[in-house]
Amino acid sequence: MKIIRAKDYHDMSRKAANIISAQVIMKPNCVLGLATGGTPVGTYKQLIDWYNKGDVDFSEVTTVNLDEYRGLPRENPQSYWSFMHDNFFNYVNIDPSRINLPDGTNMDAEGECKRYDEVIHNVGGIDLQLLGIGHDGHIGFNEPGAAFELGTHCVTLTDETIEANKRFFDKKEDVPRQAYTMGIKTIMQARKVLMVVNGKGKAEIVKKAFFGPVTPEVPASILQMHPDFTLVGDEEALCLI
Ligand code: F6R
Repeated sequence: MKIIRAKDYHDMSRKAANIISAQVIMKPNCVLGLATGGTPVGTYKQLIDWYNKGDVDFSEVTTVNLDEYRGLPRENPQSYWSFMHDNFFNYVNIDPSRINLPDGTNMDAEGECKRYDEVIHNVGGIDLQLLGIGHDGHIGFNEPGAAFELGTHCVTLTDETIEANKRFFDKKEDVPRQAYTMGIKTIMQARKVLMVVNGKGKAEIVKKAFFGPVTPEVPASILQMHPDFTLVGDEEALCLI
């Protein structure tokens, strides 16, 4: 595990974007695993900026996103499909045919999870997986107690996650109750894992996940065992370690 200390959110975003652009420069046809949420928005902004300056080219990159709400069509502004297009894909030269997310409208959970695992397998696996971390240690939608050996699966969101995600919706009742998510096994199979984390509110969980025992109760703790895991955090998030 490598820990990179950043001054603030902006610095964290630049450092993470540097690692991602290095990956794309070293392997232009790489597979990037991407995340939604508030934390990586600055990283995407920085990548867009470097793309506009001609410093990084996404034309051969394939993307696979971590997760998607079950039941939301792509066009719904709260879908992760929309999030990724609004915050990143619409502003860079990613080939739309190489963009992959779980299909929230496929209500056949077993079939959709199998399809998504095959997509990841068929593109050759993930070169670099970007992650955020939830206050309870979740990664993707792998909530506390999630089995480490799962591939893509359907989860029922905990109340804590619904509560945390309601900021993106008009009201709490609008937050979908289920999601499709890559499993911990899928994430652990990525060749590199890069986590971004910022703010005081995440300091406790960062300490628990990366300096406490490896346990399914803290899903991110398994990343201690990943052979190429980098944590980029701002001063506030890393203040307890
Ligand atoms: C995002 C995801 C989530 C978030 C986590 C942290 O695709 O799967 O695990 O990374 O909830 O979210 P933020 O960055 O909003 O604190």
